[in-house]
Amino acid sequence: MPRIRFYGHACFRLEQGDVQVLIDPFFTGNPHIKEIPADLRPTNILVTHGHGDHLGDAIELAKANGATILATPELAGYCGRQGAAVDGAHMGGTVRFPWGSVKLVPAFHSSSVGPNLDIYAGNPVGMVVRFHGLTFYHAGDTCLFGDMRLIGEGNDLDVAYLPIGGHYTMDTEDALKAIELLRPRAIIPGHYNTWPVLEVDISAFKARVEAATRAKCVVLKPGEAYEAG
Ligand code: NI
Ligand code: MN
Repeated sequence: MPRIRFYGHACFRLEQGDVQVLIDPFFTGNPHIKEIPADLRPTNILVTHGHGDHLGDAIELAKANGATILATPELAGYCGRQGAAVDGAHMGGTVRFPWGSVKLVPAFHSSSVGPNLDIYAGNPVGMVVRFHGLTFYHAGDTCLFGDMRLIGEGNDLDVAYLPIGGHYTMDTEDALKAIELLRPRAIIPGHYNTWPVLEVDISAFKARVEAATRAKCVVLKPGEAYEAG
C-alpha cells in the first residue's frame, strides 16, 4: 500500500514512485510545520475549499512544479486566474488519473478566499481518493452529517481523515459518530491543536475510538507517514 504522509492540520501527501498527490497544502503559517519539505514535488494538488488553512500554498506549489489543482469550479477558476493549471469538478463527479481517481463528495462548511473571506469559492467538498489500491477519504472541513453513511457504504475505506477540533468543524464526540457511519479500517485525526480554540486531548480521543469502534486511530506527528494494510 502507498504511504500517507501527514503535515499537520488537514495537509496530506499520498506518495508512490514519482507521484505525489498533495491535499490541502497548508505549509506557510501552519504552526505544525515550520517549512515546506525539501522533497515536496507534487504532481497533483487537491483542495477541499478556499480557506487559507486548506488552499494554503497550492497556487505557488502548482506553478513551481507544473502540478494541476483539482477543486470545485469556482475555486479552480480563482487559482487559474493566478496562473495555476486547474481542473474544476463538482460533487458526485469522479476524476480519473493514471494512479487512480478522486470523487468529490459533500462537506457541510463554507468556502471563500481573500483577506476578508469575501470572495465566493463555491461549495466545500470532501474527497474519496483511490491511489494505487488505497482508498482514502479526506473529509475536508465539515460537521457530522448523516450521508457519511453513504460514503461508507459506497467505498471500502482503508483510511479516513477526520477533523476533530470542533469550533470550525466536527468535534471529538461527533467524530466518533462519523466513524460509525464511515466504517473505515483506520482514521487519522487532524484539525486539532493548531490554534488554542482547537485544543484536544488526543490520547483520550484515540482510546475512545479504539474502545467504541473497529477503527484503528492513527495519530501522526507532522511529517510522519502511515502505510495502510
Ligand atoms: Ni474551512
Ligand atoms: Mn479549516
